[in-house]
Amino acid sequence: MKKRIALILIALFALAQLIQPDRSVPAPAPANDMLTLTQAPPDIRVLVEGACYDCHSDKSTYPWYAYVTPMNFWLQSHINEGREKMNFSRWNDPASREEAYECGEVLREGEMPPKNYAFIHGHAQLTDAQRGRLVDWFDAHMPKEDGSGAEHEENHD
Ligand code: HEC
Repeated sequence: MKKRIALILIALFALAQLIQPDRSVPAPAPANDMLTLTQAPPDIRVLVEGACYDCHSDKSTYPWYAYVTPMNFWLQSHINEGREKMNFSRWNDPASREEAYECGEVLREGEMPPKNYAFIHGHAQLTDAQRGRLVDWFDAHMPKEDGSGAEHEENHD
C-alpha cells in the first residue's frame, strides 16, 4: 500500500512538470536598455546586471530549479512582479521607470536585492563599497519622482 502511494505521488510529480509558467518576453532591444540609455560605466553595468536584472529586466537568467514545478510558478510570479514595478529592458517606456526614483533608497535600506535571492546568487551579493557606489550612481542617474531627468542625454559618467 505504502509503495503504491509513493508511486502515485512520484507519477503526479512527474506529470506536474509538464505544467510550466509562461516565461515568454519580447526580445530585449539594447537601444531601449537602461544601462545603454544612461551610458552606465562598465563597473555599474556588472553590478546592476548581477544584482537586479534577473527580476527587473527581460534578460532573466533561469537556474535549473526554475523549471521544477511548483518552484517555477513561485519564481516566475516574483519575476513578473519585479518587471511590472520596473523594467530596465524597457527604459523607453515611462511606465517601466515610474518607481525607479526609489532605487537608491531600497538599496540603501538593504531591501533590494531581496536577501533570500542574494543568499543563493553570489553575483547579487554586494560589499558595502559596491552598495555605496550603486546608491550614489542610482541617485544621480534615475529619473526623479516627478519623472524629470528620465532621458539622460547629457550624462556621460
Ligand atoms: C529576486 C527578484 C528581485 C531582484 C534581484 C531585485 N528586485 Fe527589486 N523588486 C522585486 C519585486 C518582486 C518587487 C515588487 C515587490 C516589492 O516591493 O517587494 C521589487 C520592487 C522594486 C522597486 C520598487 C519599490 C518597491 O519597494 O516596491 C525598486 C525601486 C526595486 N525593486 C529596485 C531594485 C534594484 C535597484 C535591484 C538591484 C540592486 C533589485 N530591485 C533587485 C524583485 C527583485
